[in-house]
Amino acid sequence: MTILRVRDFEIHSGYLPADAQSALVDEIRACLAQAPLVRPTTPRGKQMSVRMSAAGDYGWISDATGYRYEDRHPSGAAWPPIPEPLLKLWRDLVPGARAPQCCLINWYDESAKMGLHQDKDEADLTQPVLSVSLGDDALFRMGNVTRGGKTESIWLCSGDVVVMQGEARRAYHGIDRVRPGSSTLLPKGGRINLTLRVVT
Ligand code: SIN
Ligand code: MN
Repeated sequence: MTILRVRDFEIHSGYLPADAQSALVDEIRACLAQAPLVRPTTPRGKQMSVRMSAAGDYGWISDATGYRYEDRHPSGAAWPPIPEPLLKLWRDLVPGARAPQCCLINWYDESAKMGLHQDKDEADLTQPVLSVSLGDDALFRMGNVTRGGKTESIWLCSGDVVVMQGEARRAYHGIDRVRPGSSTLLPKGGRINLTLRVVT
């Protein structure tokens, strides 16, 4: 376990041991049985390459109407509760923060990526976002609090946890690509990213 700091991003490399990663994947599968992955459309009508679901009081939704948090899955079903190991992770890494209200579940297949963006649909940007990587490695790009300028990238591996607070909470970030076959955690490959957020 090592902690790297890139700008204001705090990267806890190798934070979760293999058994904790496997247990978390089982918890996430149970969540997805209740709230299946959907492939969101952007307000501009483009399909995102990432598939999404959520756990907690709120899930993040994108469709023709815009980006927002909703207290129900698009099917009308309630979101499942945030798995306890993730609540513990939050308490351990950001003990002063309010309790998380959303665990966004992002599923990347071998060709999925996520463009540079800010997380700014939450009401209280003083609260951190915590990101957990599971499965194949992904190239994470970190930018600035305003669009443009130099960026820095790092490969996130299964078990890594990134804390985004301070400047990093408002900084642009995204995933350029995943490295297929780099992890054996998920039998069919791919990557799961979990982000814990305070929404209201
Ligand atoms: C996100 O910004 O919501 C996801 C980041 C990641 O997949 O690591
Ligand atoms: Mn984000």
